[in-house]
Amino acid sequence: MTHDLTLPRARHQDARRSLAERAVLDPHRPRFHFTAPGGWLNDPNGLAHWNGVYHLFYQYNPLAAAHHRIHWGHATSRDLINWTDEPVALVPGTDGPDRDGCWSGVLVDDGGTPTLVYSGRHGERELPCVATGSPDLRSWHKDPANPVIAAPPEGDLTAFRDHCVWRENGKWRQLVGSGIRGVGGTAFLYESEDLRGWRYVGPLLTGDASTGTAADLDWTGTMWECVDLFRIDGADILAFSAWDEGATHYPLYWTGQYEGDTFTPRELHRLDYGQRYFYAPQSTRDALGRRIMFGWLQEGRDEDAMAEAGWCGVMSLPRVVTLGADGRLVQAPVPELARLRREAVHTAAFVVTDGTYVRLDDVAGDQLDIETTLRLAPGAAARLVVRESVDGSERTVIEVSRAADSTTGTLRLHREASSLDPSVDSEPRYGELPLNGDGAVDLRVLVDHSALEIFANGLALAARIYPTRPDALGVGIAAVGAVAMERLDAWQMTAVFDGPRPLWP
Ligand code: FRU
Repeated sequence: MTHDLTLPRARHQDARRSLAERAVLDPHRPRFHFTAPGGWLNDPNGLAHWNGVYHLFYQYNPLAAAHHRIHWGHATSRDLINWTDEPVALVPGTDGPDRDGCWSGVLVDDGGTPTLVYSGRHGERELPCVATGSPDLRSWHKDPANPVIAAPPEGDLTAFRDHCVWRENGKWRQLVGSGIRGVGGTAFLYESEDLRGWRYVGPLLTGDASTGTAADLDWTGTMWECVDLFRIDGADILAFSAWDEGATHYPLYWTGQYEGDTFTPRELHRLDYGQRYFYAPQSTRDALGRRIMFGWLQEGRDEDAMAEAGWCGVMSLPRVVTLGADGRLVQAPVPELARLRREAVHTAAFVVTDGTYVRLDDVAGDQLDIETTLRLAPGAAARLVVRESVDGSERTVIEVSRAADSTTGTLRLHREASSLDPSVDSEPRYGELPLNGDGAVDLRVLVDHSALEIFANGLALAARIYPTRPDALGVGIAAVGAVAMERLDAWQMTAVFDGPRPLWP
């Protein structure tokens, strides 16, 4: 065999490695977030806590790091942190309603029978399908009656897919995400006795896409992907991901009241300020009564870079979602995550002098959990820097600021200098940060190679960053105005994944 010397060496070697082998060599691959063994991952699906075991299914292409003929990958865990790969649950059919993909859906308990409700894709169309599982949830049988809904409701629709299914008054109810062209995104409500025959009830709620654009905080898009309806501490929440003409914008939620066949909305909020970096979330209630949510951290690099890396798509850390005193959702990583903490650094309180930058020399790494409490005077801002190279040419900045005249603030992520690679996304991200009168901010930052998750007073911002320098490990803090750092605790995080994993477990 002759070698083609025109190919760069690394690329040449890569072509002979499997996706899973290439994936583990990628310095951008997270080590304590869940990722697929290789290939493509998108939405969390079929989330459930079943007989003491957490099940995470996900949109998966084991054949390439590209979105094509989507399968359902499957992993299980007893603690939401350490995962075991399970056999691929759904494979697109050779023909039939899901021959072009098994798109997003949920897992329900049908009188003891684990049952998946998902969107089968055929050509450009998706329709609801059902599959039943063995008692161990390891093998799945597609229902011969698929698709179980033969066509979407009448009308000019932008799309019709993704499912939220629950039991109510002895019947099944289901929402399917959709959009009415010229009107807005919607969730269609259905009812069933047996998960196979469905009666269309009507739209549960329809958005108004005629005013606003994706640049606004409250534009709801022309289609609602992955609708998720749940009750939390007595409040009803309708979460969805705003989509428009193929663009995945951001996750939103309505607070309000679900009663009868309608949802009366009260307030609309961003679920995560990272926009498409926390997309298509799905949640479940676990046996401890907690609302657990995962979202999909999309890539910020281009298709060629993904193909070369052999993998793409990160599952967020599992989040516990509760209701805050102001009626908004409060999010935090599950407490189980603390099991991965190793070497700790505890920094004593200090005042960060106005205009200075303090490099925290004993905190450094690309697998970190950082917790800090900051107190901001009116008009002040604190900047926590992570993944900073020794020469400062690469750095990612998390900024919390307080308005001069009020108790509102802003959480902002600056990624402009996060990578010397000009091809990666470096757009900033930001959102409103409510503050108490004392200007206190509880900030938690999880750094896991290219995955970054930020929680500020319970509000979340997830993103991806791709530093190129191996020494981009530094952490520091800067202040503008009067900033007190009341504490900073940081831990090195151990990996939950090491070597290559089988693409077809
Ligand atoms: C959201 C989504 C869903 C769809 C799935 C396809 O990211 O577009 O609407 O079911 O991904 O993989």
